[in-house]
Amino acid sequence: MTQGTGRCRAHTNIALIKYWGKQDEQLFLPMNSSLSLTLNAFYTDTKVTLDQALKQDVFLLNHQKQSAEQTLKISNFLDLFRHKYSISAKICVESINHVPTAAGLASSASAFAALAGAINEAARLNIGLQELSTFARRGSGSATRSIFGGFVEWQKGTCSTDSFAIPLDDAAWDIGMLIVVVNHREKIISSRQGMKRTVETSPFYPAWVKSSEKDLVEMKKAIVTKDFSKIGELAESSALKMHATMLSAQPPFTYFEPDSIRVIQRVQELRKKGLECYLTMDAGPNVKILCRLTDMDKLKQELSTEFSQDQMILSGVGSGIHSLSENEWLL
Ligand code: DP6
Repeated sequence: MTQGTGRCRAHTNIALIKYWGKQDEQLFLPMNSSLSLTLNAFYTDTKVTLDQALKQDVFLLNHQKQSAEQTLKISNFLDLFRHKYSISAKICVESINHVPTAAGLASSASAFAALAGAINEAARLNIGLQELSTFARRGSGSATRSIFGGFVEWQKGTCSTDSFAIPLDDAAWDIGMLIVVVNHREKIISSRQGMKRTVETSPFYPAWVKSSEKDLVEMKKAIVTKDFSKIGELAESSALKMHATMLSAQPPFTYFEPDSIRVIQRVQELRKKGLECYLTMDAGPNVKILCRLTDMDKLKQELSTEFSQDQMILSGVGSGIHSLSENEWLL
């Protein structure tokens, strides 16, 4: 295949049972299986053009040509497909991140899932979704899960071919997330470096892996029975346990900022008052609150005494990757 174009949209996802630590850094094999909810508020649209006439790969993000370093990351990812499917063409990648202004939530998850989907389409590879998730994984672990919508499990597997995502439930129920943007500055330490340091130095790390396995089993049961309270409790606990491993790493680090703690306290207070909501946090200070869609406006109102309107983003459940027509791409 020397010519061809493909366009794909992927939504980001937020883990409810976190992935934190790799057993193989080259292959992105995780220490534990994880489980996420795909969100509809944030997504990446990517267009891939195979072009025999190009001298080198080109990468445009939000219409800006990216540096050689950024382009190399994309080229390395594209090489996985080029090697396996004997594609010789250089590739132009155009990506648009649809993230509400100032959210600071641009995510490698939607980026690599959309890129995997777009090259699959451009080169007419017909790779099935489960296998495609193993390719997305090699760009960023969390991208494995963004191939599918709703609740998704990333099974850690034993090797590169069986570490993939499976869709569990479309989550078309009364569930969503309210994201409180505390700060959108650069991360103090990337998730990749942070998890490596934690695996290597935290004495709590083995306990984290063990308890994640247990939490995952419980979470899958709670999804089957649509037990919102149990899902929330397990999600909050998984996030807090993950953040505890960072405080116990050497040197220690944390993504918590004073405002993150304020949100955590508010969530716990509101819950006591009967508004059921649960928090989760990733490798940054923003807090994501799991709640019922029908409670979202009330929750936003409660938080608006302390946080501004543009700090709060509401999201429903997102779908899996899908291809875009030329017209949809241009919109
Ligand atoms: C805290 O997927 O960004 O968001 O695999 O090194 O690219 P790499 O890491 P990444 O880590 C995500 C960590 C997390 C938890 C999660 O999404 O499960």
